[in-house]
Amino acid sequence: MGLLNGKTALITGAARGIGKAIALKFASEGANIAFTDLKIDELGKATEAEIAALGVKAKGYASNAADFEETHKVVEQIQKDFGSIDILVNNAGITKDTLLLRMTEAQWDAVLTVNLKSAFNFIHACAPIMMRQRGGSIINMSSVVGVSGNAGQCNYSASKAGMIGLAKSTAKELGSRGIRANCIAPGFILTDMTMQLSEEVRKQWTDTIPLRRGGTPEDVANVAVFLASDLSSYVSGQVIHCCGGMNM
Ligand code: NAI
Repeated sequence: MGLLNGKTALITGAARGIGKAIALKFASEGANIAFTDLKIDELGKATEAEIAALGVKAKGYASNAADFEETHKVVEQIQKDFGSIDILVNNAGITKDTLLLRMTEAQWDAVLTVNLKSAFNFIHACAPIMMRQRGGSIINMSSVVGVSGNAGQCNYSASKAGMIGLAKSTAKELGSRGIRANCIAPGFILTDMTMQLSEEVRKQWTDTIPLRRGGTPEDVANVAVFLASDLSSYVSGQVIHCCGGMNM
């Protein structure tokens, strides 16, 4: 028996990386999985097949999480296809790193829209469904830099700090309807996003981590399954750091 038997989870940006690891972990705990990504191409189809191989219902949807109308349409479709949405993981995210004074308005807007507005879009579309169900768990993917800030990432860290404010406010507004909202703040996790950094920068990061290694997507997925399941039934409005001790 899995921790998420009979639940439907919706995970954004889950064709690869942390989102995909969460989808696989949730599926291994019995949840049916709806996931979105910008495109459902060969990679997305392969992810869908990998999830379905765990014996649950799985479907990938092409949808730009930053688009309010598109988000409402895809959530309506998922609700029709799956019948419920019990868990929402706002995971889609991008980086456009540069120093503050070199940052263009377009770089600021892109990161804030994809990373933060997307979560508002999905919570706005899913909350009425969860309210009718009188329950739900919302997980926003923040970052340690949303708590501590980071030179060269003012757009990204502002978006990730925003994810914390959004989750805490949602927890306060919707708690009386049985809906919980929390954040995960991953540290340095080895995915395509961090592979964009040079080997030297990656080594610098690893050297500062007490556990002396980058995290895996599965490390983050293990925290997500706790927050998604009834194991965390009295946990709401919180930020759980998953960073090998990098941020204390
Ligand atoms: P990734 O780049 O491997 O995967 C992100 C996924 O989001 C991709 O599949 C991408 O196509 C999708 N995506 C991007 N824009 C989208 C949009 N507008 N609509 C729908 N999907 C979209 O990144 P990774 O590392 O798996 O990151 C996942 C989340 O975790 C992100 O929110 C990221 O900011 C956060 N995070 C990652 C850390 C790391 O060290 N890798 C550390 C802290 C937070």
